[in-house]
Amino acid sequence: MPLARSLSVTSLSGLEEWDEEFDLEDAVLFEIAWEVANKVGGIYTVIQTKARLTAEEWGENYFLVGPYVESNVRTQVELIEPTNPVLKRTIDKMNSSGCKVYFGRWLIEGSPYVVLIDVAFTAWSLDSWKSELWELCDIGVPWFDREANDAVLFGFLTAWLLGEYAAQSEEPPHIVAHFHEWLAGLGLVLCRHRKLPIATIFTTHATLLGRYLCAGNVDFYNKLADFNLDKEAGDRQIYHRYCLERAAAHCAHVFTTVSQITAIEAEYLLNRKPDIITPNGLNVKKFSAVHEFQNLHAQSKNRIQEFVRGHFYGHLDFNLDKCLFLFIAGRYEFSNKGADIFLEALARLNYLLRVNHSDVTVVAFFIMPARTNNFNVETLKGQAVRKQLWDTAQTVKERFGKKLYESLLVGQLPDVSKMLDKEDFTIMKRAIFATQRQCQPPVCTHNMLEDSGDPILNCVRRIGLFNSSADRVKIIFHPEFLSSTSPLLPMDYEEFVRGCHLGVFPSYYEPWGYTPAECTVMGIPSISTNLSGFGCFMEEHIADPSAYGIYILDRRYQGVDESCNQLTSFLFQFCKQSRRQRIIQRNRTERLSELLDWRYLGRYYISARHMALAKAFPDTYMYEFHEPTSTSGFRYPRPASVPPSPALSRHSSPHHSEAEDNDEDERYDEDLEAEKDRKNIRQPYALPVKNKSSV
Ligand code: UDP
Ligand code: G6P
Ligand code: GLC
Repeated sequence: MPLARSLSVTSLSGLEEWDEEFDLEDAVLFEIAWEVANKVGGIYTVIQTKARLTAEEWGENYFLVGPYVESNVRTQVELIEPTNPVLKRTIDKMNSSGCKVYFGRWLIEGSPYVVLIDVAFTAWSLDSWKSELWELCDIGVPWFDREANDAVLFGFLTAWLLGEYAAQSEEPPHIVAHFHEWLAGLGLVLCRHRKLPIATIFTTHATLLGRYLCAGNVDFYNKLADFNLDKEAGDRQIYHRYCLERAAAHCAHVFTTVSQITAIEAEYLLNRKPDIITPNGLNVKKFSAVHEFQNLHAQSKNRIQEFVRGHFYGHLDFNLDKCLFLFIAGRYEFSNKGADIFLEALARLNYLLRVNHSDVTVVAFFIMPARTNNFNVETLKGQAVRKQLWDTAQTVKERFGKKLYESLLVGQLPDVSKMLDKEDFTIMKRAIFATQRQCQPPVCTHNMLEDSGDPILNCVRRIGLFNSSADRVKIIFHPEFLSSTSPLLPMDYEEFVRGCHLGVFPSYYEPWGYTPAECTVMGIPSISTNLSGFGCFMEEHIADPSAYGIYILDRRYQGVDESCNQLTSFLFQFCKQSRRQRIIQRNRTERLSELLDWRYLGRYYISARHMALAKAFPDTYMYEFHEPTSTSGFRYPRPASVPPSPALSRHSSPHHSEAEDNDEDERYDEDLEAEKDRKNIRQPYALPVKNKSSV
């Protein structure tokens, strides 16, 4: 009989000392999400980065379940025969009953098994399943809502899979099924309705109503208690989706969400308080050479600079060495993600840099996918012109080198004034003429399908930031996720982030927000807010976040204009830092990585599973809930011996010279400082729950 593991956490470095006696041998874990091997947003990142840790814990008994999407499978999944005999019988049975279910290994860290269901193949069942849903719980799904139709198919098929698995097992199995987000929620509801012997968990990564209400002009957090939920959902034509979400939250043995702020939202909007919060982690890679990530920053920055050279050809009248790269990225939710106040703050920053005669230029990238029909000609031309100039320089260099060599061969010092001949000048003049351009460097890299209604472009038109020479702030809107195969900016997202100086994520609605977390583990400072799960988590666990390059904007207790001023001030202060200060700040930022590692945060998922097992199989498992002793007990201390803000640190003293800027000796001071910090750390955030064994 399985033994529950007792969870005890004593110190940040002592997490490996967990009591590993929990016997999972006869238990099976299914984790079900629409974003399994299917990238849409942050839920994909949760599943993909957590897979290694979960596979280590559950081994052969861990299966991810997602939709079959051919293009994804071709690039990410190796299809194989099911290894588990019960699962093989289950899949064979389903496939012989008119379904198309695939099995494979997802080619990511941990190589987890995936069961992928082709929902379109079973679309013939949609009407009858919708009727069943109506009979069962009065939820009517309209024909035109494609996403909800997929949710119905996916829900019935996953419940079928789990029910069949239970039926095919010889011994009654201990199954845990963990469902993510409303799109997968119906499977959970059906499992409970069919009384399947399964411990169920539902994690919501945002509430549907929260997302919709915030996107409108609503004072969301002050009105949480006052919304007429049914009416609000009906007005937005998402009543059926909202019902599916709410049913899943209520039916689950264990209900979780990704942050405290979303827990409060769920309590009001879904009417159930989460049993446990499961914060999002990342797979933190530590380089053996401490400063390797700094070198990577320099390498990636060079590549972004190359792109900028092409994009601004003919207008390259600013010093690239004094140029800072800022960016915002994620799903295109203009106001929820704070792109609105970022643009406004950039306009104010532009003014401040101009009146202060700053020699800094800011290039702000907006990476948010919108509907386009490919790159625009002007942008592609920019990169072609840059390449042509490079080729011209190489040709002239070769001709020059040849003449130099010949002159040395005959024992003469060359007459430098004759090294370039008429032809060389003609080639160079022709190349320079090609860089003349009549228009400003484009704001948008693609042809937008809805150009005149696009919120970012409309805002740029209003604030007038058109990349003119006088502007100290330039804007580049790249309405597509980045890819290393792009002809324009051939970098994947991670490389791009590494090359930037600051990530700006001033979200109004953000249950967690992976983008600033990803910046942190790569040692890139970021701005988030006290309305984002990540921002609140960092505020709770770090004594002085801004000293570590984690700027948390107040969007909770002040109005939009004040937030915008605060954001402008963060940006302006950032622009005033010297190179050396930025290097030091990056070192500090990177030091926080361990706080976000799944190795620590994964324990909340473990707890949720134990809780669910104990609720579903009380004769076998027992779970003792312990009130948090001190969830806020752990606070990462301020960097030892350093003033709270880099702007105030000794490196910004008036005597600090430009020449010193390139000296990186300060890193050693920083290493000593890091060492002191480590000694200062007493205990990480305490685990709020404890699990006891029963036999
Ligand atoms: N992202 C990406 N490519 C890009 C831009 C963003 O893969 O070009 C990813 C990013 O790594 C992050 C996710 O998109 O993991 C966005 O997640 P987040 O939690 O910040 O927001 P969501 O979109 O889920 O609301
Ligand atoms: C890293 C590199 C340095 C480089 C610096 C540039 O620290 O190791 O060689 O000088 O980045 O920093 P910046 O903030 O100016 O991009
Ligand atoms: C959702 C949220 C985002 C969160 C992600 C992963 O998409 O919008 O804030 O980071 O899920 O939990």
